Amino acid sequence: MHLALIMDGNGRWAKQHLKPRIFGHKEGAKKIREITEFCAKSGIKYLSLYAFSTENWKRPKAEVEYLMKLLGEYLVKERQTYLESNIVFKSIGDISKLSLELQQEIKSLETQTQAECNGLTQILALNYGAKDELRRTFMILRQKQECEINEESIAQALDTSGIPDVDMLVRTGGEMRLSNFLLWQSAYAELFFTQTLWPSFSAQELESMIAEFYQRNRRFGGL
Ligand code: FPP
Repeated sequence: MHLALIMDGNGRWAKQHLKPRIFGHKEGAKKIREITEFCAKSGIKYLSLYAFSTENWKRPKAEVEYLMKLLGEYLVKERQTYLESNIVFKSIGDISKLSLELQQEIKSLETQTQAECNGLTQILALNYGAKDELRRTFMILRQKQECEINEESIAQALDTSGIPDVDMLVRTGGEMRLSNFLLWQSAYAELFFTQTLWPSFSAQELESMIAEFYQRNRRFGGL
């Protein structure tokens, strides 16, 4: 099972609690840990989380800086959680636009968890946009001139190379859109939308969505 999550609603959650937006992001980061641990325990194999999109750079500089700081703290603080819960960490997106320090932290966490863990793979989308991923993929394929362009060679050159397509995509925060997240990989994903804002989302709500997922009849275009 590959579950993808669009974690929306941090800003509105903070507003409801009469706090600055960054307070919502902080709570949102805590929620990542809770939901990831639940997925690891439930035997889900892949969990993709939309943490920072190629469009998020348009936010005020202070908010972008805070999100980057939070990410840095998260990667350092959670290393132990990954190792203890047997979680493999992987980033997708163009991380070359992040600070060198963050890039090193990401690479080192990937290397260590890939060597020592074999449970859930948590895929963190950082400076990720599906259109940008496809653009980078086509550049790779153009360079490999001997390579035939088919669905398989495209899938292999995506950031998610080797990871199966998304089975289930959940978006919190009430909006009903995909916002440039895993467009190729979600071609046949079952979609779930909830009004719940990301910091208020719970393992319990996710569990009931997963139960509904198994009730759905997936035909993949067939009968
Ligand atoms: C959407 O809330 C949230 C994001 C910008 C992405 C998710 C970020 C986090 C969960 C926190 C930081 C992540 C890590 C990995 C440390 P929003 O600000 O768009 O909410 P709004 O729609 O209510 O304004």
